[in-house]
This record gives sequence, structure tokens and C-alpha cells, in this order.
Amino acid sequence: MACKISNFPASDICDSEWLNFIPFSGFKYTIRKMADSTNVGATLTNGIKDPISRAALQPTADYILQRCEMKPLVGIICGSGLGELGDLVTNATNLNYNDIPGSLLGRVHCYEGFPLWHIALPVRVMKLLGIRNIIITNAVGALNPLYQVGDLMLVKDHINMFGLGGQSPLQGPNDEYFGPRFFDVNQLYSDRWRHLAREAAKEVEFCRSIHDGVLTIAGGPNYESVAELKMLSMLGADCVGMSSIPESLVAHHCGIQVLAFSLVTNLCTFEYSSNQPPNHEEVLEVANQCKDDLKKFVSALVKKISLNLDKTTINGNHK
Ligand code: HPA
Repeated sequence: MACKISNFPASDICDSEWLNFIPFSGFKYTIRKMADSTNVGATLTNGIKDPISRAALQPTADYILQRCEMKPLVGIICGSGLGELGDLVTNATNLNYNDIPGSLLGRVHCYEGFPLWHIALPVRVMKLLGIRNIIITNAVGALNPLYQVGDLMLVKDHINMFGLGGQSPLQGPNDEYFGPRFFDVNQLYSDRWRHLAREAAKEVEFCRSIHDGVLTIAGGPNYESVAELKMLSMLGADCVGMSSIPESLVAHHCGIQVLAFSLVTNLCTFEYSSNQPPNHEEVLEVANQCKDDLKKFVSALVKKISLNLDKTTINGNHK
């Protein structure tokens, strides 16, 4: 038994009242910034609840919990073309985002016009639901010349271009309920969970190559230029995508164990004359071709994680 929250088309987002919440105007973002960063986070200086505080998100979590018969322990965030991983959930309680109180929109990306803190919402709601482990997936282009289309990369570390550029989903007031203001990321992608992932892959005789590699992020929606790809490669990144790192940071901050993997949907080209520029159709097609293998893998992985849940905490977060 599990709880599955279905996505709705982007066009619905624009019709919804949450448009007010989508700070194309920077409105709410400004509000978050106005707060004292040492504030416990529940209420901002102007009396409005910080939208990613526990106080703001608890009603959303309560709504979901009241409708699920079991308390979920493992969360999955699906990347481009990998939404069918959600079909693995049996005896699902299906909830529509439209019916859930709060500003939950599912996985959002910078290129959709959302500020980074929006990425914290679903992850923090998962935390309030009691989720202890999260599997975060995305589609990526491979910078590492040894990688092939269809390979999997277990993320062992990241180069967070957003963070280095001064952008984080956790900027603004910090709600200490979720985690400390300052935190390290050395054990974000733990060896242990990657080891479990390899065991799960072996069990299901996963036929694709699995690498441990470094993920980096670009904001999109354009794919990266040749000069950018060369730079990212020189910096030591193995793959580049447009998501996963901010979600992983938010999860780690609040003590959720992260297993992130990336599906290589295209090989990055370092030649201007390449006749194989990346395109979204290719990304979706590769994801579609790999989805059955990935479903088997994720299914085995979730079982392994469930059997290995323990009370270990990270970041001093014991909730
Ligand atoms: N770059 C960024 N994001 C991506 C890519 C890419 O080449 N492929 C799939 N997502």
C-alpha cells in the first residue's frame, strides 16, 4: 500500500490559483528573502507563513496522511520520461495535486519559471509524511566519454553550478525543524545506498552499465553549449542534467537518505560540427526504451531499502 500523487499537465498549473504562488514576479520569493535568516522559519517578518516552513506544509502532509492507509517510508522523484516508475506502486492511493491543500506542484524545474525554493516543497512534505529514504532520478547527457546511451550513473557527488553561483532552494529563512542553517554534503550520496543499488541491479540481472559518477546541473531549457560542456567536463563532471541536485540537497538537509541515479539519454558532443545535437524527443525516447529495465531495478531497490531501513540520522536531524 502506498500513496501516489499524480501530476497534472503544465497548462493546468497556469489556470490554477497557484499562479499567485508562482513568483514569475518574484513576489513570494521577495517575501522569503525579507525574513531574517536566523528566524525559525514559521512566520516571516510581515506575518505571512514561510511557504516551505513546517507550519505551512503540515496541512498538506496531514491531508495526504489522512488518505493513505500506511505511512510511506520511501519516496521516488521521477525524471524526464521516467514517470512510469510510479506505476510500481501497488495498492496505490491516488491523489491529484489539484485537491491537495498547499502549493504542491510535483517536481518543478528552474526552466519552468519556478524559483529554486519551490523544489523544497514536495521533498519537505515527504519528510513530514515520515519518508526516510528518497530515490531521485533524472535524464542526463554524458560528458564522460566512457559512458553510453542507456547507461545508469549512480550519483556519488555533484558539482552544483547553482549553489556555486549563489542559488539554493534553502536560501531564505531556515526552519530548524527540518535541519540546521549550515550543513555539510560529504555523505549526501552515501556509499551504502549506492552499494545497495548495485546489489539490486545484480539481483534483477540489470543489463546496462552502471557507473558511479559526478553529476552537474545546468538551468536549461537550452542544452549546453560546446564551450560549457568542455568546461563542465574539465571540472570533473561525468554527466549534466537539469534537476536532482537541488532536490537532493533539500532531502539531505532534513535527514532523508538520498539515492540519486541518472539515466544517460544522450552523449554530449564537444564538436561544433556535430550532427547529433541533443533534443528532447531523443531524451524521451531513450527513457521510454529503458523504462522496463528501470522499473525492475527500482522495484528491487525499494525492497532492499525497505529491508535496510535503520534509525541512522544525518545532519544531527533526529526527527
Ligand atoms: N543536458 C542537460 N540536461 C539533459 C541532457 C543534456 O544533455 N540530456 C538530458 N537532460
